[in-house]
Amino acid sequence: MRKVNFTETVLRDANQSLIATRLPYSKFEPILETMDKAGFYSAEVWGGATFDVCLRYLQEDPWERLRKIRAKMPNTKLQMLLRGQNILGYKHYPDDVVRKFVEYSVKNGIDIIRIFDALNDVRNLEVAIDETVKQGAHASGTISYTTSPVHTLENYVKMVKDLKSMGVSSICIKDMAGIMGPKESYDLCAAIKDAVPELPLVVHTHCTTGLAFMTDLKAVEAGADVIDTAISPFSGGTSQPATETLAYALRQLGYQVDLNDKALIEMADFFKGVRADFLKSGTLDPISMATDTQCLNYQIPGGMLSNLISQLKMMNAMDKLDEALAETPKVRKDLGYPPLVTPTSQMVGSQAVQNVLAGERYKVVGKEIKAYCRGEYGRTPAPIDPAIQKKILGDTPLVEGRFADSLEPEFEKTKKELGATAKSDEDVLSYIAFPQVAMAFFKDREAGFPKKEEPKKAAAPAPAPAKAETAPLPAWQGHVYYARVPAPMSNGYTARPIEPFAASYQPPHLVMGNREDCSGVFTVTIDGKPFQVSVERADGPAAPVAAAPVAAAPVAAPAPAAAPVAAAPAPAPAAAPAAAPAPAPAAAPAAGETAVKSPMPGNIFKVECQVGQSVKAGDVLVVLEAMKMEIEVSAPVDGTVKSISAVVGSTVNTDDLLVVLG
Ligand code: CO
Repeated sequence: MRKVNFTETVLRDANQSLIATRLPYSKFEPILETMDKAGFYSAEVWGGATFDVCLRYLQEDPWERLRKIRAKMPNTKLQMLLRGQNILGYKHYPDDVVRKFVEYSVKNGIDIIRIFDALNDVRNLEVAIDETVKQGAHASGTISYTTSPVHTLENYVKMVKDLKSMGVSSICIKDMAGIMGPKESYDLCAAIKDAVPELPLVVHTHCTTGLAFMTDLKAVEAGADVIDTAISPFSGGTSQPATETLAYALRQLGYQVDLNDKALIEMADFFKGVRADFLKSGTLDPISMATDTQCLNYQIPGGMLSNLISQLKMMNAMDKLDEALAETPKVRKDLGYPPLVTPTSQMVGSQAVQNVLAGERYKVVGKEIKAYCRGEYGRTPAPIDPAIQKKILGDTPLVEGRFADSLEPEFEKTKKELGATAKSDEDVLSYIAFPQVAMAFFKDREAGFPKKEEPKKAAAPAPAPAKAETAPLPAWQGHVYYARVPAPMSNGYTARPIEPFAASYQPPHLVMGNREDCSGVFTVTIDGKPFQVSVERADGPAAPVAAAPVAAAPVAAPAPAAAPVAAAPAPAPAAAPAAAPAPAPAAAPAAGETAVKSPMPGNIFKVECQVGQSVKAGDVLVVLEAMKMEIEVSAPVDGTVKSISAVVGSTVNTDDLLVVLG
């Protein structure tokens, strides 16, 4: 009788897919001992979004969570998800950080690390795999599953052989979008088992389209050894198929399933109660538990489709949906068939929308797409269309070799910088992974975790941008009030927007004008110099203008003498709207002048030029934020900046005047 093993995902993927990872430790602690008796091959409990959400929303130290689970589940292998060289985010980290992260994950209790790369570039996996093996843990080499003319069985088998030579202990097929059908599953599993019969094969999929049970069954028939499932109350929809259902079906078909049914019943009863609570609070949307076959029709993942629709709605361009849907596969082909998973799915979707709205393909290109075309994300599955690459990059050089090779070691340096703020090496790693979020967490921890209102309907955390986000040294510790409208500072400095706009912590409400959500420790850039500051809401009448730009105005803080910022007397805590002159609207261009207009609707994210500055064609003048992407608007000609209409934080429409060049 062939044995089929189960990996239980309720604490990580099911938690992440259904309730935006909002399950606090205290809520699931009572069931851990039962889970430990259930006979799972492994329990996926950590990694993915759990880390970020613990720090950002749950006032939990993710490392401590892991240690507590370890203590309560001594008999079950604990598993985590790791995005190779990206660890838990989307940017590349230097090798020393990847190694430290793996080392401490294992030290704190992880047995199995599932290591994947969105582009399936094995160079992005090798360091994490190597360190996992060195630490004596189980490295599960993972294929990010997608379909395209270049994602052939042969190529997947080649990748699997590469993974084997790197020393992995198992192979995992990770169908993150739930698009793998039963035939594809059978064929791929059979091919992999044929190529590396000695390595256990794990299959991970999602129920989104309703295929998962069939996909798993055919995987098992083709030789898969382990399937990922979630206990029934947290199964289905965007989560995994139900543990009990597959155990039942596989036993009926004559497979050996060594799960403890009594423990499963207890777990199901327990998680029914948890589910009821999250339904009541609105965090669990019943829709996410339903079957959605739309992505089978469109051949793009459900999450990406809803993203596309919401982008078009935001721009009042829903009439362009069909065009955008037709453009999406073309963009994907142009870009060398990246898998449609985060973050490449958002990049492809946004680019398709931009191509349609701008009326010219690749006229407007986001920063992330540029980085992707340079090779910062890794090797693309197929070559990028050379003509399009040229149009996007101009003369920008390509990344040679592995991007992480160009990164300086970071761990020891950061540790030194943090000093006593970091209580442990784990703290240092939390900080490197999510600087602003971790710093706010450390501060809260110091203060004994003051009560915070958890929003009723919590949104998924915004994915960290691909851009490097190294918080600079705290050169100046002080206090900043943000003004509701642009407030010129009496010390002659220009107040600039708060840096989290540009880093991983992007309080969405701040940009939108509702500034409930922007207190914390941030980096503020004043005249090009970074300052670490705490920010809190200034008193004053509510801002009448919803999209009023936000300016950081250092005030009254006892600034050390050495600080390059004069502690300006507060321009009245939050200058009243009337008191703060808005920048004069730029004059319409005269003859011989060039108007630089917004290529699309969005928010002004950064203004990178000053009046009087001479610029060259191609220099970036303004950065827009549209559709979660940064869009650079460059000077079309050489010239001098005559006037600037763009105000950071304000919204603009297509063809709104941004800058006049003379
Ligand atoms: Co998943």
